[in-house]
Amino acid sequence: MRFGVLTGGGDCPGLNPAIRAVVRRAAAGGHATVGFLDGWKGVRDNLARPLVSQDVVGLEGRGGTILGTSRTNPFARDEEARKVVATLERHRVDVLIAIGGDDTLAAARELHRRGKGVVGVPKTMDNDVRGTDWTFGFHSAVAVAVDALERLRDTAASHHRAVVLEVMGRDAGWVALATGLAAGADATLVPEEPYDETAFLGRVRRAIEARGCALVVASEGVDLGLKRGSAGSKDGFGHEILAQRGVGADLAQRIQKETGAETRSAQIGHIQRGGAPEIFDRILASRLGAAAVDLALAGKVGQVAVLRGTEVTGIPFDEALGGTRTVSPDWLDLLHTFDA
Ligand code: F6P
Repeated sequence: MRFGVLTGGGDCPGLNPAIRAVVRRAAAGGHATVGFLDGWKGVRDNLARPLVSQDVVGLEGRGGTILGTSRTNPFARDEEARKVVATLERHRVDVLIAIGGDDTLAAARELHRRGKGVVGVPKTMDNDVRGTDWTFGFHSAVAVAVDALERLRDTAASHHRAVVLEVMGRDAGWVALATGLAAGADATLVPEEPYDETAFLGRVRRAIEARGCALVVASEGVDLGLKRGSAGSKDGFGHEILAQRGVGADLAQRIQKETGAETRSAQIGHIQRGGAPEIFDRILASRLGAAAVDLALAGKVGQVAVLRGTEVTGIPFDEALGGTRTVSPDWLDLLHTFDA
């Protein structure tokens, strides 16, 4: 069998170990793999390279993706979709393994509907793919955010300030939630809950009264009433590219104005997506990459390799793509146990 592999959408730690797992599992069964560069763009434009075991040495702990990525939507126009099919035929790919988030997996499903063998592997630092309990990239991103918040705690305590850390998470607040829980934030704001300024400022005031400083973590997707500006363009899937100045800076201004506490904000942005994957992500990515090959070899194309509890299994694309997996009420309940 000949496998194709691509990584699409925003990068995250774990992509390289997943590629390594695909190549090694395929090679172990005597199967060849071709890598497509820059996500769906590489399949559309025939940008490819063979991948043998030697090419993936050392990828278990390396950040980024050796294949590159993009937010190209290959089904935006019929003519492009035809090119995708032609490239796969040119390389005699039997099964394409698409590693990505919702948009990449939706394109993979579309390709499967057009009669091609495709298996999906979910990834995203946002942890918001519906069919899987965890996505790789998430724990690594949270580790970076926790480190940032703990550093901010030191400087906030020294200066008796409030600090706001803005983390990624447009529609789902998993990164903010996990960061707030693990680093002991006084207030954590996620897009799943309406912004309540009175309650929020109350938490900040109580923390300052109790300890002389306050720690806030907020998802970039929190709606403060003033919509975050657009940078003026959209990606291939139609998502607005957000302006650099975000909710963290707005929240800091509000805290300072309403409480009088000197306040600073920090936005760690893409720092969360770089660096070596955490051990959990290395192992999860390895399991899912290998499972994707196994699914293909078992004839189970049109499926996504996912984590359910402690088991890795395959589920149909439709089940994995039933909308964004947002933070559930039980997690919010736990989070608010620790509010100031
Ligand atoms: O991968 C999802 C995500 O991390 C979002 O949380 C964020 O809004 C977006 O990517 C930003 O991506 P980029 O700036 O790379 O297009």
